[in-house]
Amino acid sequence: MKQSKTMEKNANKVNKFLNSKLKGNPKKLYDAAGHLIVNGGKRLRPFMVMKSCEILGGNASNAMYPASAVEMVHNFTLVHDDIMDNDEMRHGVPTVHKKFGMPIAILAGDVLFSKAFQIISNSNLPPKEISELVSRLSKACVEVCEGQLLDIKMAEEKRIPTKREYITMIGKKTAALFDVSCAMGAISAKKSAKDVKNLSEFGKNLGIAFQITDDLIGVMGDPKITKKPVGNDLREGKKSLPILMAISQSTGKDRKIILKAFGNPKITKNELEEAVNIIRKLGIEDKVRTQALAYASKAEKSLFTYSGKAKNELLSLLEFVVKRSV
Ligand code: IPE
Ligand code: IPE
Ligand code: MG
Ligand code: MG
Repeated sequence: MKQSKTMEKNANKVNKFLNSKLKGNPKKLYDAAGHLIVNGGKRLRPFMVMKSCEILGGNASNAMYPASAVEMVHNFTLVHDDIMDNDEMRHGVPTVHKKFGMPIAILAGDVLFSKAFQIISNSNLPPKEISELVSRLSKACVEVCEGQLLDIKMAEEKRIPTKREYITMIGKKTAALFDVSCAMGAISAKKSAKDVKNLSEFGKNLGIAFQITDDLIGVMGDPKITKKPVGNDLREGKKSLPILMAISQSTGKDRKIILKAFGNPKITKNELEEAVNIIRKLGIEDKVRTQALAYASKAEKSLFTYSGKAKNELLSLLEFVVKRSV
């Protein structure tokens, strides 16, 4: 499923704003900070900020500040995440630390993080809203760090986590930013705490559905689209929902084949494909999609009291997130 024209239009506006903010000296530092942004990205979070403001009848130009800020925070997490995960490619180009070296990548992340708060502080919103935005966004950043640590801890432990532990981890590492995106959109519309809560819950559940689907793509994704071999996350030993379901629901020889591929960099292409075929045969794709859809449906319920164009756009985003193949 492709992104809609509205999402593209919104992304273009956000890109312009971001580019204007990511200029300065030494140029190399700003090139590194903008590297992933100029080479791709879907701008899902800014879209959520803008539409969460519009759904409440707010002025979209007020939402541009937190929208750009959250995209900067997101990119900051990507730069540091690629360092932590030792990943060499993102958006089809070398990651920031591969292209610019580790010290500049760390600084580029720091610039993105700091600029995000600077943009919010310099926005045209009243002080009460600015203070609320800063407080929410900083809390979300802390949650992302907690989630990233839970992710690392899970990877280090021998034990296969429970579904509950996995949901807690992705709720923090991924959904916290989706949650705060929608909350910040609602705050920019200067609406009631109840509206902020509804939108925040929409974002949280959408974020969980997003990460579950992302993890499904990490195992069963089409290599032509993902540019990674099928079963990549299995070979890397990621403890994501499709993998923990596959391990717990397989038996006998099937289980042995899956476990042999799990976290085994030396596994052959054929053995990896065989393991993925077993995961297919177990119906894991359908089961994982059902889980993502359950969170999508929870998200949809939070928008129950609203109507209009922005609501439809948020619901199309929800559909995009659970149907996408990359
Ligand atoms: C990637 O998020 C990081 C995760 C939380 C899995 P996105 O898919 O939204 O990142 P972009 O579109 O490349 O910026
Ligand atoms: C990305 O998590 C989440 C954050 C950047 C906080 P992953 O490490 O699972 O995602 P990818 O595969 O690098 O995008
Ligand atoms: Mg990563
Ligand atoms: Mg990671």
